[in-house]
Amino acid sequence: MSRCVVIGSGAREHALAWALAKSADVVVTPGNAGIAAHGITCVMTPATQLEADLFVIGPDQQVVDGLADNLRSQGKIVFGPGADGAQLEGSKAFMKEFLASAGIPTAAFGVFDNEDDAIAYLATMSAPYVIKTDGLAAGKGVLVTKDLDEAVADVREKLSGMSFAGAGRTIVIEEGLDGPECSLMVLCDGKNVTALATSQDFKRVGDGDVGANTGGMGAFAPFPMMTSELLADVMENVVAPTVRELARRGIDYRGVLYAGVMLTSNGPKLLEYNARFGDPETQVLVPLYGDGFFDLLSRVANGDLDGAAPESKGAAVTVVLAAHGYPGAPRKGDVITGLGPNGQLAEPVEGVTIFHAGSARNNEGQFVTAGGRVVAVTGVGDTLEQARSRAYRGASLITFEGRVMRSDIALSIAGGAT
Ligand code: AMP
Ligand code: GLY
Repeated sequence: MSRCVVIGSGAREHALAWALAKSADVVVTPGNAGIAAHGITCVMTPATQLEADLFVIGPDQQVVDGLADNLRSQGKIVFGPGADGAQLEGSKAFMKEFLASAGIPTAAFGVFDNEDDAIAYLATMSAPYVIKTDGLAAGKGVLVTKDLDEAVADVREKLSGMSFAGAGRTIVIEEGLDGPECSLMVLCDGKNVTALATSQDFKRVGDGDVGANTGGMGAFAPFPMMTSELLADVMENVVAPTVRELARRGIDYRGVLYAGVMLTSNGPKLLEYNARFGDPETQVLVPLYGDGFFDLLSRVANGDLDGAAPESKGAAVTVVLAAHGYPGAPRKGDVITGLGPNGQLAEPVEGVTIFHAGSARNNEGQFVTAGGRVVAVTGVGDTLEQARSRAYRGASLITFEGRVMRSDIALSIAGGAT
């Protein structure tokens, strides 16, 4: 059997490892307690000291830091772009300039590191105002507000370099757009692309999209508002020019191009690119691809992706259970009930898999909270309705003190109870 190393420690990596393990021997570094309990080997050894037929990098920081370059320099086969391609995620200023030079539809923007220029530009925009830190900020570096005073204060704070460890010393100010958002993950082997099923994630902490931005409170796939016509439009006007522009710049991009697309009344526009799989979108995508995931990612990494990805089957909904205090400082050590020794539901629900993120085991072997997002509960089904009701049934069986959960993931599309 082929051997595969997955790098990362969240529910996204748990989902990737689970899908890859259907047809490969998988090792996760460093992984987490729930992945290990699920029967997947987790090791603390760094990826550079491991041997495998395929290396799959999960987290944004490691992609942006050039781990793929490092591994490739050792002759390893890697799924994930090098530091050059990862700038699409690592620097919003780079990404916006890249989009502009490739003529890709996106919000009008300016890039600033000077407060007076930034505030003068803001005065020329109309609400809502959108201010983004240039660098990685764990999904928390974006302010969208209708209040100009708040926008000005945010510009000052970000440019002072006080927030996000300097990631905000350069900012991007954007035209505010409106419309439903879709996550589109496209596999790219350097030359060819193929789209995976579309999905939608839920970034705000509260039902009805209120409250603070988080790393993601849930997701569902497929996303029916992204019709095949709209998808063809995005592939032609966003993805194809991106691949041409990457080639023009000499960037051999092998991995996933994750496009955050807004379906505006003026057509689809690209909000952002990420250079790795989405979290929690991966937790709804991988179950739709049966056991073909290792082959698919290997072909991408080997530059051998001819033809489309296999058809996805059915639908999936993921509900994230987060710790007390999330997205602020999460409380650790709360005992989680409802899980068996393998980290899955003690009373299994058909079609439900638990993907662990911030969980650990205490001295008695019980699972306890150990991070912001604790577990992702994924339900799959023939339809979104069925997937949703399974996911929420599974979620209702897992409890811990102060559990934070949204009750409206996929509700407006699938219907059902809140
Ligand atoms: P980003 O990290 O760039 O995806 O931004 C995070 C979130 O902010 C997006 O998912 C949108 O909900 C919102 N957002 C980003 N850019 C814009 C924009 N130009 N107009 C309106 N909302 C935006
Ligand atoms: N779900 C948003 C992200 O992965 O960036």
